[in-house]
Amino acid sequence: MRVLMVASEAVPFAKTGGLADVAGALPGALERLGCDVTLVMPAYRDVFTKGLPIEETGLSFEVPLGARRATARILRGRLPGSDVTPFFIANDACFDRPTLYGGAEDYADNAERFIFFARAALEFAGRQDRPFDILHCHDWQAGLVPAYQKLAYRAWPMLSQARAVMTIHNMAYQGLFWHWDMLLTGFDWKYFNWQQMEFFGQLSFLKTGLVFADAISTVSPTYAKEIQHAPGGCGLEGVLAARSDALVGIVNGIDTTVWNPAVDRHIPRGYGPDTVAEGKDAARIALAARLGHAAPDPRPLVALVGRLVEQKGIDLVIEMLGRMAGGGRAHFVILGTGSADTEDALRHAAAAYPGTIDVVIGFDEEFAHLVFAAADIALVPSRYEPCGLTQLYALRYGTIPVVRATGGLVDTVVDATPETLASGRASGFVFEAFDSLALEHALDRALLAHADRTLWSGLVRHVMDQDWSWDASAREYVRLFERVRAAPPVAVS
Ligand code: ADP
Ligand code: GLC
Repeated sequence: MRVLMVASEAVPFAKTGGLADVAGALPGALERLGCDVTLVMPAYRDVFTKGLPIEETGLSFEVPLGARRATARILRGRLPGSDVTPFFIANDACFDRPTLYGGAEDYADNAERFIFFARAALEFAGRQDRPFDILHCHDWQAGLVPAYQKLAYRAWPMLSQARAVMTIHNMAYQGLFWHWDMLLTGFDWKYFNWQQMEFFGQLSFLKTGLVFADAISTVSPTYAKEIQHAPGGCGLEGVLAARSDALVGIVNGIDTTVWNPAVDRHIPRGYGPDTVAEGKDAARIALAARLGHAAPDPRPLVALVGRLVEQKGIDLVIEMLGRMAGGGRAHFVILGTGSADTEDALRHAAAAYPGTIDVVIGFDEEFAHLVFAAADIALVPSRYEPCGLTQLYALRYGTIPVVRATGGLVDTVVDATPETLASGRASGFVFEAFDSLALEHALDRALLAHADRTLWSGLVRHVMDQDWSWDASAREYVRLFERVRAAPPVAVS
């Protein structure tokens, strides 16, 4: 089965969040199951700063972009640990920029950049020598691909038999642009209606993808249910409910070659379930040094790594820290970047409790590995969470997650109760209400459990033995691809 994977970011080349982790690992996992995967992403400036080999292919072509044409130059790289060849679409005006999507404000021309990207991805695929079976499109940045395939490239032999699968990583980011951007797409205005491309007067890239795709997936079964209702669907719940037959939830895996405490290059001492105490001790010495402490803190270490935005429930953490940090029962380490207000509030909390709260503002992949290795407990108190990867990394590193019962967190963490502990299924501490007291209560339970050495080491061993690799999830994608390939394409008019 030949798969074109269209994603706006992928590790190790460019990353702002979990989509990059998925797009960097899923192609290799699909290849191991016999798929032939071609990954296509933009050639951002970041791509060239990683010291990875990126070479010219010699292929370039013109892509229609409204009334003009823009040149796409195709570059080629290597996806470490797999036989997948990633291709990069270069156009310096579009992608040679300091960040992927903009800063505090999105780039004003993001519609144009990702219209170009979607078309260029198809024009590239259309110039290959073997036809594609599946176009696997991720998030709004690839949202126009299913529509272009059906409305503009249907006659191209390499694309004509393909089915488009749209994968949603986050309903809150929809790619909404003013209606005049329709002119840049080249689509007929007749598609700008409430059932297809229009969303409250704007052009919606994600809605377009959901309507024109032959199948839709999202990154956990619980999120697949949540998005068919308000508020989870972020206004598109009706569109998703109408296509519920075409919608599945497949939980993300993790790249166990990158996230493996036994061989992790970013931690001082590799460890497994039998050597977790030694491994964590070494990591804590390194972490203390990195944070400027003379010695590691003997108290339980509670960590949070993530984007410091509304979705992640950082407001709950800030409220909780205000009450808990003075009690001195734990040491907190927070690594993230996000809104200026949240960053300031966290810096303020750290200044109020030196030696108890450490806040590191920045995006630091290597440091994230050290934090997961050093910590005892990881917080993921999200308002909503399509899948969530940090709880999976935590589990792999023997770090017990405290999570809110939402989206993929429901599907990946089993609350520790007397029953689940007795049956050996418990893997973390789960709270329901989006409320800082509920978070505090769950963290209290975790700290109490941490004090019981036998209970805690049993929990740690269990979570480290779990298999969150891509194998099972990639198989589900293959089944989805097979199903959609066997069915007729979605009808468009
Ligand atoms: P989302 O995609 O919503 O941000 P995920 O949990 O799926 O959430 O993925 C987040 C990814 O980004 C994880 O790999 C996490 O470790 C990483 N990450 C987030 N913020 C940072 C940061 N400041 N430094 C390093 N890694 C980060
Ligand atoms: C999104 C979601 C996150 C998910 C990631 C990868 O960014 O917010 O929950 O894990 O995509 O699918």
